[in-house]
Amino acid sequence: MFSEELRYLLRGEPVITVLTGAGISAESGVPTFRGEDGIWKKLKPEELANFDAFLKNPALVWEWYHHRQNLIKNIEPNRGHYALAELETIYKRFYLITQNIDNLHIRAGSKNPIELHGNIMRNRCIKCGALSYEVELLKEVSIPECSICNGMLRPDVVWFGEMLPPQSLKEANRAMQESTIFFSIGTSAQVQPAASMPIWAKNYGAYLVEINIEETLLTPYVDEFIKGKSGEILPVLLKEITSFKSK
Ligand code: OAD
Repeated sequence: MFSEELRYLLRGEPVITVLTGAGISAESGVPTFRGEDGIWKKLKPEELANFDAFLKNPALVWEWYHHRQNLIKNIEPNRGHYALAELETIYKRFYLITQNIDNLHIRAGSKNPIELHGNIMRNRCIKCGALSYEVELLKEVSIPECSICNGMLRPDVVWFGEMLPPQSLKEANRAMQESTIFFSIGTSAQVQPAASMPIWAKNYGAYLVEINIEETLLTPYVDEFIKGKSGEILPVLLKEITSFKSK
């Protein structure tokens, strides 16, 4: 399943960066964005996932996000998430960058994911910027308020037309420059800047591996394409790594 070159690199002291997209959570039951059942096939992002829409009708946007928070709260990380959390404990230098907002990497035990698009379980005050978490919000029915300044809370996710969190970009940039192996997992590689990160990492010298159930726009540029579900492939990869690391 894995090339000799990848095995060789994994045996050494690689700096590993993993970029994940919606595909890694598909086996947990979170819908992807662009597949057959993708969210954007059913909903218009311009009506729900942008700041103007929020200001126009915050209750509607919150209704949708409460619904999604509840859905996500009731699903579990899958074997792919757990395998990545485990890999992080094996390699000293390991970066996890995710486009997902579903919090599943953290729930699986990943310590420090670089969240490019925010986290749906976190909320941010539009007035003072204070962050708060889901617990107190899930009980609310209307528009939640900041407990510090009474400003309106919004989900701490990146909407269309918004900048990515500068700190996350800075950390991702560092990961791209330092990595010697870069895995792109479960992303269609269509949304920038994440879509270009694997290529940048490759240009900086990383060995580029893609894991996906189908080929993507990135596939022609990768060193190795592993076709299949991340929840099946990553545990096999982890098993191989633990077997040679324990020798
Ligand atoms: P997409 O829905 O565009 O792509 C999901 C990818 O996962 C596809 O390439 C699938 O083939 C693949 N896939 C599905 N199931 C898989 C599995 N079990 N194992 C491995 N791969 C699988 O999702 P993203 O690329 O993550 O942004 O989308 C990027 C961004 O677009 C999202 O973060 C979101 C959206 O607009 C924001 O909300 C800001």
